[in-house]
Amino acid sequence: MSADMQFDLVVLGGGPGGYTAAFRAADLGLAVCLVEQANRLGGVCLNVGCIPSKTLLHGAAVLEEAEQAAEYGISFGAPKIDLVAFRDHKQQVINQLTGGLDKLCQARKITRIVGKGGFKDTTTLQVTGEEGAKEISFSNCIIATGSHPFMIPGLPEDERIWDSSDALALKFVPKRFLIIGGGIIGMEMAQIYSALGSEITIVEMLDHIIPPADKDMVQPLFQKLKKKYQIFTKTKVVEVTAAESGIQARFEGAKAPESGEYDAVLVAVGRRPNTENFERENIALALNERGFVGVDNQQRTAVENIFAIGDVVGEPMLAHKATHEGKVAAEVIAGHKAEFDPMTIPSVAYTHPEVAWMGLTEKEAKAQKIDYQKGKFPWGASGRALASGAATGVTKALFSKETGRIIGAAICGQNAGELIHEAVLALEMGADAEDISKTVHAHPTLSETFAFAAEIVDGSITDALPSKK
Ligand code: NAI
Repeated sequence: MSADMQFDLVVLGGGPGGYTAAFRAADLGLAVCLVEQANRLGGVCLNVGCIPSKTLLHGAAVLEEAEQAAEYGISFGAPKIDLVAFRDHKQQVINQLTGGLDKLCQARKITRIVGKGGFKDTTTLQVTGEEGAKEISFSNCIIATGSHPFMIPGLPEDERIWDSSDALALKFVPKRFLIIGGGIIGMEMAQIYSALGSEITIVEMLDHIIPPADKDMVQPLFQKLKKKYQIFTKTKVVEVTAAESGIQARFEGAKAPESGEYDAVLVAVGRRPNTENFERENIALALNERGFVGVDNQQRTAVENIFAIGDVVGEPMLAHKATHEGKVAAEVIAGHKAEFDPMTIPSVAYTHPEVAWMGLTEKEAKAQKIDYQKGKFPWGASGRALASGAATGVTKALFSKETGRIIGAAICGQNAGELIHEAVLALEMGADAEDISKTVHAHPTLSETFAFAAEIVDGSITDALPSKK
């Protein structure tokens, strides 16, 4: 059978990585086909990930702020929560964004095919959709198939055991809610459901929540949450069984109870790449030792004309990594000398307060035996933080003793996810503590705390006592 269609580029997967790659390639003049099995673009991020969770987290933040307003002498009545309306609003946000993507795709004259794609060989993709099977021939392909939530093996089949998509569906508000995994998803979901009235229990295997961040930078969040939630670190769930009265879990951990019963359980213990749903064997594409599709710094796989981007090629599984990789792949295919070579990919937990970090953490700097200087500015000394009820925050910046340049930064506090980008730019531009200190920051802002952290290292701090030499 000859191919039904012929393209310069076929992109397999329409998440943030895939659609960005397709759009960039079309803008560079390539004939592009975008294959996505769902009838909406946006993938996990837009439909069951970043965007719905941020919409729900905003609702949770409003509830919390209304409560905290009492400190300012402002009080509201008890909130009334219409779960259906909350869910509908989240869906409206998703619809607006996916609708926008449809228009952007159309305007670029990209051929969009709704269906499941699998390789027949290194220049042909077979796509099976509602209209039957099609063969598409391509000069180049970008695999952008993403990832799926990892479920702990051996859990019972029960609709009260959720992955992140179930939790975002807001099916009901469990009275007793167990969250397995104190990573980013676990902590964000805890905040949403706590605001809606759930009693939260979190079990985390490692010694603190959000383990990739430095422990001291998670403390303001932890200190606040431990008053409200049961948080058991260094704890594992060893058995989960379904009873009519609830889901029962047994724990093993230094300070954990032996067992508990819950109305719902969220499993948030990481994600796994989608590597087994595109007939990889027909192009003889092996996985690397970590189970991802291996790529070089131009996003090229071991097969010359096939590229891969996003969650399927490795950690961190973040939309903003995928979009940048997507652009690189598209540009390389269009003949540009592009490379994926960022100095850092920032991480953000959109909790209240937010936790954000970039570059090296202190524990990474120590492990790599890098000599560094640290500036740490507590937000209790920031006028803007005090005015905004955000005094528990903290900003930390690390500078190499050898080069003087910034090597890492972390922020825990209101808007940390926005504030961190000044540090990202400083790292990309090779700024040192003096560069940052002498960059005039508007007063009063939370951004000043980053300049103050640099001033501590620079020795020019006046908003705190200078550190002893
Ligand atoms: P994660 O890897 O960030 O966290 C999972 C946590 O579960 C870890 O702290 C781990 O130590 C713990 N854990 C693993 N097995 C356990 C067990 N049996 N018992 C107790 N604890 C256990 O994974 P998560 O939160 O599921 O997120 C998945 C991916 O999605 C990550 O790559 C994350 O970066 C990304 N993501 C990013 C978001 C953001 O940027 N705001 C939001 C949501 C997800």
